[in-house]
Amino acid sequence: MTVAALSHSSLPEFELLKRGKVRDVYTVDEDHLLIVATDRISAFDCILPTPIARKGEVLTSLSRFWFEKLRDIVPSHFVTTDSKSMPAAIQQTTDLDKRSMLVRTADVFPIECVVRGYLVGSGWKDYLRTGEVCGHKLPANLLESAELKEPIFTPATKAEEGHDENITEAQVRDLLGGETTDYLRETSIRLYNEAREYARQRGIIIADTKFEFGRDQNGQIILVDEVLTPDSSRFWPAETYIPGRSQPSFDKQFVRDYLETVGWDKKPPAPQLPGEVAASTSERYLEAYRLLTGEEL
Ligand SMILES: Nc1ncnc2c1ncn2[C@@H]1O[C@H](COP(=O)(O)OP(=O)(O)OP(=O)(O)O)[C@@H](O)[C@H]1O
Ligand SMILES: [Mg+2]
Repeated sequence: MTVAALSHSSLPEFELLKRGKVRDVYTVDEDHLLIVATDRISAFDCILPTPIARKGEVLTSLSRFWFEKLRDIVPSHFVTTDSKSMPAAIQQTTDLDKRSMLVRTADVFPIECVVRGYLVGSGWKDYLRTGEVCGHKLPANLLESAELKEPIFTPATKAEEGHDENITEAQVRDLLGGETTDYLRETSIRLYNEAREYARQRGIIIADTKFEFGRDQNGQIILVDEVLTPDSSRFWPAETYIPGRSQPSFDKQFVRDYLETVGWDKKPPAPQLPGEVAASTSERYLEAYRLLTGEEL
């Protein structure tokens, strides 16, 4: 059975808290949110008009997989992805099935806990200019996409509009205090190391990733948002990894390659994707899920 791709969710019974680039978040009750991963895809920071079938399902299932796998390191907001255990209004909205996660509402810390294991993106640019990445002094003569000896914690603010801004650990300390900052840094690095090691053995390099944390109703720090998905991380195919150049993206490369060939100026509106580009991208997301979990979605 083919299920139509979903660009836009609608759940009138609940208040829409936020429509992100990819996910729609609803307030279910005082203590719970519903995070709906649509099939929207962004490239070069722009939402494309063409949805990617089953992408939302992959994001949701992969987050669930990691929350469960990593729960000995830190508890999370995860409650269920089984729509049969959700309020009736959600069960009746069939296009939300398999792409929705019920979570505990948290008081989210206003920082993104970024961990980088490889020298890429803005980190690579900063390194070329200064020899450092967000205050971490690195050895000279590293190549683009080089694996770092130790992963580094490079927090950023959560910008409402536009780009998140890198901040120093000292700034995080000012915001959250020393004890919380130490805990977030150590936990983020432990989570990344565990996931990276696991993924590497299954053919995927997780070059970097972003975690969010918050306090639950008892004041306990929990992992929230999505975790270790291709949308919150850079996934590279391990097979073709060669330092000294940029790496193809595991999931979005067909999309990026296509957009480069059509001469789009990378300003909205973005062009439609041809059917075969959308289909092969969908297949890549499913492949990432298959490799990481060992299961067919
Ligand atoms: N358990 C939770 N309790 C409260 N808020 C949460 C919880 N989990 C995630 N959130 C918040 O839900 C929001 C999800 O928004 P989303 O990530 O989709 O959009 P965005 O961050 O604005 O933009 P982008 O699409 O670029 O990521 C984030 O602000 C996140 O902090
Ligand atoms: Mg976000």
